[in-house]
Amino acid sequence: MTTGRLLPMLEIAPPPPSAGRDGAAPDDARVAEFRPESRVLPRFYVWTLGCQMNRSDSEEMAGRLLAAGCAEAASMDAADLVVINTCAIREAAEAKVIGRQGELAKLKHANPSMRVVMTGCAVREMDRERLDHRFPAVDLFLRPDQEPELVDRLGLASAQGPVGLLGGSSGATTVVGRTVVGVADHLSGTRASAIEGGAVHRSSAVSAWLPIIYGCDKTCTYCIVPFSRGPERSRPFDQIVDEARSIASHGYREVTLLGQNVNSYGHDLAPEARFGHVRTERWAGRQLDLGSRPDLAELIRAIDGLRTADGSPAISRLRFITSHPWDLSDRLIAAMADCPSVCEALHLPVQSGDDAVLRRMGRQYTIEHYLERLERIREAVPELAISTDVIVGFCGEAEAQFDSTLRLLERVRYDQVFAAAYSERPGTPATHLADDVSSEVKRRRLNQLLALQEPIGLERNQSWLGRDVEVLVDTIVPPRTHEHDDDGDVSSEPRHLDEAQQGSGLVHLSGRSRGNKLVHLTGPAGWLGSLVDVRIQHAGAYALRGAPATHG
Ligand code: SAH
Ligand code: SF4
Ligand code: F3S
Repeated sequence: MTTGRLLPMLEIAPPPPSAGRDGAAPDDARVAEFRPESRVLPRFYVWTLGCQMNRSDSEEMAGRLLAAGCAEAASMDAADLVVINTCAIREAAEAKVIGRQGELAKLKHANPSMRVVMTGCAVREMDRERLDHRFPAVDLFLRPDQEPELVDRLGLASAQGPVGLLGGSSGATTVVGRTVVGVADHLSGTRASAIEGGAVHRSSAVSAWLPIIYGCDKTCTYCIVPFSRGPERSRPFDQIVDEARSIASHGYREVTLLGQNVNSYGHDLAPEARFGHVRTERWAGRQLDLGSRPDLAELIRAIDGLRTADGSPAISRLRFITSHPWDLSDRLIAAMADCPSVCEALHLPVQSGDDAVLRRMGRQYTIEHYLERLERIREAVPELAISTDVIVGFCGEAEAQFDSTLRLLERVRYDQVFAAAYSERPGTPATHLADDVSSEVKRRRLNQLLALQEPIGLERNQSWLGRDVEVLVDTIVPPRTHEHDDDGDVSSEPRHLDEAQQGSGLVHLSGRSRGNKLVHLTGPAGWLGSLVDVRIQHAGAYALRGAPATHG
C-alpha cells in the first residue's frame, strides 16, 4: 500500500472564471454532454495500467483535469469520467481492461452521463474498428500522443479557458511506418506548458517522474511499444533541466528520468556548439551521427549540478529507467560514477541468455557484449544493484537456450529479475515466427527461473545485514490485519508494533535504499519524505528490515 496523494506539492492553478463559454464544440459528439453549461464538471477517476511511463502520463492527465476544475473521485463507481490508461505489453494487460467492460457498462447504465475514455498503448490508430469491438464501453479513444488533448476533446477547456495546450488542440500528426504519432515537438511542448501551468498532479510528494524521451526506435521483434508509442523523440535539454529545477524547488528528494530507452536520449536533437565535446560512441545497432548533441551523460551531469546553497545536490537521488545495452556508453558510466546524486542502481534488461534467441528477438547485442558492459560499470560503480527483464519461451527457445538464461542469472547474480512468459502481440515482427513453446513449458520455465533467482536475491540482500543504508521514506504502511509474523523465514515485512511503540506514536514505514531495495522500519510518521540511515537487521529475498541507526 502506498500513502497515495498525501502531500500534493505542486500548486494546481484554480480554474479561471467561466469565460469563453461558447467555445468550439468538442470533436466527438458522444462526449458533448460534458460541456459545463449543461452539467456540473465531471468527477474523474484515472485507472492506470503498465509501466512508469503510463503512471507519469496519468499524472499529467489528472493534472489537466484538475486544472480544468474537475474533482478526482475516490473510485471508478463514484466517477462520471473514467480514463483508462492501458498497457499492451502482454495479452494479459489488455485482457484486464476487456474483462471490466461489463462492469463499466453497468456503471454507465446507472449513471447515464458517465463517459469512458481509453488511452495508452492499447490504442493504435490502425486498430480503431477492432478497438470499438473489443472495448464496447469506451466512448472516446486517444492515442498516447493525443493525451494532452483530453480536456479539449471533452469540451471542458472551452468553458474553462485553454488548459495546458499550446494554442489549443494541436492535432498535428505524422505517420511513421504503420504508427500515427504527434509531430516531433508536440509532446515536449505540451509537457512544458503543463509544468509551467502547474497542471501535473504528481502522485507522490517524495519522488517525481520526469519523462525525457518518448517512443522507441529499437527493433525488438516481440515488442508492441514502437507501434504504440512511435519513434524516439527527445525533449529539449533545457526544458528537462528546468523541470528538474522546478521539482527540486517543490521539495522532491528523488527524480526518475523516464523513457523506453533513456540512454539513447538526444540523438534526434539538433547539434549545438555547447555540446561540441560530446562524442558518444555507439556499440551496436544503427550507426548515427551523435556528435555535438546532448546525451544522457550530459543531462545527468546537468541535473546533478543543480545545487543548494550549501553545495549539496538539489535533488538527492537521481535514477533513470530503462537502459538498453546498445547505448550504455562509457560516457554514461563515467557520469554515473562521478555524480553523487546518481543512485547505485541500474535496470539493464537482457531478455535472454542465448545469442541465437537474442538475434531472433532483434536485440542487436551478444551476451559477451552485455557482460563486458556490466563488468565495466561494476568496476566504475562499486555496490551497484543490477536488475533485469527476461522473457521465457520466446519463439523457438530450446531447452538448452533457456538453460543459458539460467546460467547467465547464476553468473551475473542480479539483485532483481522481472521475468514474463512470451506473449505474442498482433502486428509485431515476431508474429512471423512460430509461437511454438507451449504455455505449460513457458509456465514451468518461468517457475524454474524464479526458483533459481530467489536465493540469489536473498544472498544479495543478506550482504546488507549489519550495515547502514540511507532510506528515502516514501510510505506509511497500514498495520497488518493477520497474525503470521514469525513464520520461520526472515520476513522482511513489517511486524506488529508492541504496546510501547504504539503508545509512542510510531508507525510502520517503508522506503527505498539508493540501490532501490525496499526497506521496512519503524519510526514517526513525520519521517515520510526524509532520508533516514537504517541499520539492516533482517534480509528477505524481496526486502530488508532494520532500525534507525544510532550514530556516534
Ligand atoms: N524499453 C525497455 C522495456 C520495455 S517493456 C527495454 O527495452 O528493456 C518491459 C518488458 O516487457 C521488456 O523488457 C520485456 O521483458 C517485456 N516484454 C515486452 N514485450 C513482451 C512480450 N511480447 N511478451 C512478454 N514480455 C514482453
Ligand atoms: Fe520494446 Fe525493445 Fe523498445 Fe524496449 S527497446 S520498448 S523491448 S522495442
Ligand atoms: Fe505497457 Fe506501454 Fe509501458 S505497452 S509497459 S504501458 S510503454
